[in-house]
Amino acid sequence: MGKSLSMKNITKRYPGVLALDHVSIEIKAGEIRALVGENGAGKSTLIKVLSGAVTNDEGEIRVGDKVFPHITTLQARENGIAVVYQEGSLVPSLSVAENVYLGKRFGRLVNHKALEHMAAQTFEHLGIKVNPGTAVANLSPAYRQLVEIVKAVSQDAEIVVMDEPTAQLTVDEVEMLFGIIRRLKADGITVVYISHRLDEIFEITDSVTVMRDGKYITTLDTKETNKTELIEYMVGRELSLSYPRSSKPPGEVALELENVTGNGDKDVSLYVRGGEILGLGGLVGSGRTELAKVIFGAASAKTGTILVRGAKVEIKSPKDAVSRSIGLIPEDRKSEGCFLKMTIQWNVALMNLRRTGTRFFVNEKNEREQALRYREALKIKTPSVAQLVGNLSGGNQQKVVLAKVLAAQSDILIFDEPTRGIDVGARSEIYELMVRLLEEGKAIIMISSDMEELLGMSDRIVVLGEGRVRGELAREEFSQQKVLELASVE
Ligand SMILES: Nc1ncnc2c1ncn2[C@@H]1O[C@H](COP(=O)(O)OP(=O)(O)OP(=O)(O)O)[C@@H](O)[C@H]1O
Ligand SMILES: [Mg+2]
Repeated sequence: MGKSLSMKNITKRYPGVLALDHVSIEIKAGEIRALVGENGAGKSTLIKVLSGAVTNDEGEIRVGDKVFPHITTLQARENGIAVVYQEGSLVPSLSVAENVYLGKRFGRLVNHKALEHMAAQTFEHLGIKVNPGTAVANLSPAYRQLVEIVKAVSQDAEIVVMDEPTAQLTVDEVEMLFGIIRRLKADGITVVYISHRLDEIFEITDSVTVMRDGKYITTLDTKETNKTELIEYMVGRELSLSYPRSSKPPGEVALELENVTGNGDKDVSLYVRGGEILGLGGLVGSGRTELAKVIFGAASAKTGTILVRGAKVEIKSPKDAVSRSIGLIPEDRKSEGCFLKMTIQWNVALMNLRRTGTRFFVNEKNEREQALRYREALKIKTPSVAQLVGNLSGGNQQKVVLAKVLAAQSDILIFDEPTRGIDVGARSEIYELMVRLLEEGKAIIMISSDMEELLGMSDRIVVLGEGRVRGELAREEFSQQKVLELASVE
C-alpha cells in the first residue's frame, strides 16, 4: 500500500539562489501527482529534499504518520520512498539484475542466478522485455531508464518519484512506462511524476502541482484543467504557442548529401539551403541521429559524397566538420554535450577555441560577455556565468549546450531534438533564435520527434525509415498523417 506525503514550508538556499521558497504540498496515499514548472522552478530540488539527497534549510516532511524536520537517504528508503533521478544512478559495468538489487540487504548471500531469476519475475510482472543478465552498458538509454524505474519500484516502495522519466523514451517505451505506473496505481502506490510533456500529465495523473521560481503556485485536479491554463500558471503570463517564420526566402544550397551510406544509413541523398530548416522526420531508430553523426564526422560515411557550398569535402572527425562550419547540438546532451565540472562561461567559449585551435589568447572579458549574451538570449537561469554547469537544473544544462554550439557561429547547424527537456516558455525563445539564425543565412537541419514542432518549424521535411529516405514533403503538403505514412511504409 502507498503512503500519504506532506511537505510543509520547505526552503532550500544555494549561494545566490533561493531554490525552494516555503513550498508546501500534500499528496494522498495512492494518488498520482504531477509536478510541473519551468526549467529551474525547483522540481528536482524538492524531490531531492524528499529523498534525502539534499537537506532542506527549513520546513518538515511527513511520510505516512511519521514527521521529519529533514530526512536522510536511509530514512527515506526505510519509509518507502524511491526516486528515479533525471541523471540516472545505474552502474554500467554491472548486470541489470545486479543493478536492480544494488544496495539492498539480503538475509544471506544470494548468487547471481538467483538474482537474475528474481529480476526476471519483476520485469515480467511489469511488462518489460529485457534480459536481467545483460550489462547495463549494453542497453540503450531508454532501457536504462526503464531499469532505473524497476530498481526504484522493486525496493518495496510506497511512494515512487519519477523525474522526467520519459525524456529519453520512444512512444512504445512511454506506453510501457505508463503500464508500469498504472500497475503501481492498482497496487495503491503513491506516485510523483515530473515531466515537461503536458500530454503525459493529462494521460496519467490525478492531480497536478505547479511550481514557479522556487514557489508553490497551485494544485489542480487534472480532469478539471487544460494545457492553456497549466502553461499560464507555469510561466505566470499568457503564452501563445506559435511557430515563428523567417521573413527571408532561402538562398543557395549549403549542404548536400549524395548517396551517403554509413552508420546504419543507406544511400541517403538530401540537401539544405541557407535560410531554411530541413526537418528530418521518422520513427525512433529510423537513422536520423546516425545521419547527423555522419554529417558531423562523429561516425564515418562508407560511400557517397558530402558537399559543402558545392565543394566536395571529406569529413572524418568532428574537427573536420567544425572547420567546415558545421555544428551539432547532440541528442544525448548529458554525455556528449558539456563539461559539468566546468563553468557556464568556459563551456560556451569551448567551441571558439576548437575553431581557432589555440588558447594563446584567452580574452576573459570577451568570453564573459559572450556567456552573458547567451544567458540573456536563452534565459539560462543562474545568478552567475561562473556557476558550474553541474549545478544548473536539467533544462538549463541543455541551454548551455545550445549556447556552446551557437557560439561557434557555424553556418550549417544540426539540431537533434532541440527542445527535449526544455520548458514551454523557453521553447518559444529557442524557436525565435532559430529564425534569427535563418535570417542571417544559416542552414538548419532539425531532427524532432515532436510532431507539432516538426510541422511548425520546418520548411521541408525529409522522412527517414530504416536508414533510407522514404520521401520528401514541401510545406504546402505537410500533415501529421503524411509524415507518419511515410515513416511507417515497409
Ligand atoms: N547544487 C546546486 N548549487 C547551486 N544551485 C543549484 C544547485 N542545485 C540546484 N540549483 C538551482 O536551484 C534551482 C532549481 O533547480 P532544480 O534542478 O530544482 O530545477 P527543475 O525545476 O528541476 O528544472 P528542470 O526542469 O530544468 O529540470 C535552479 O536555479 C538551480 O540552478
Ligand atoms: Mg529537474
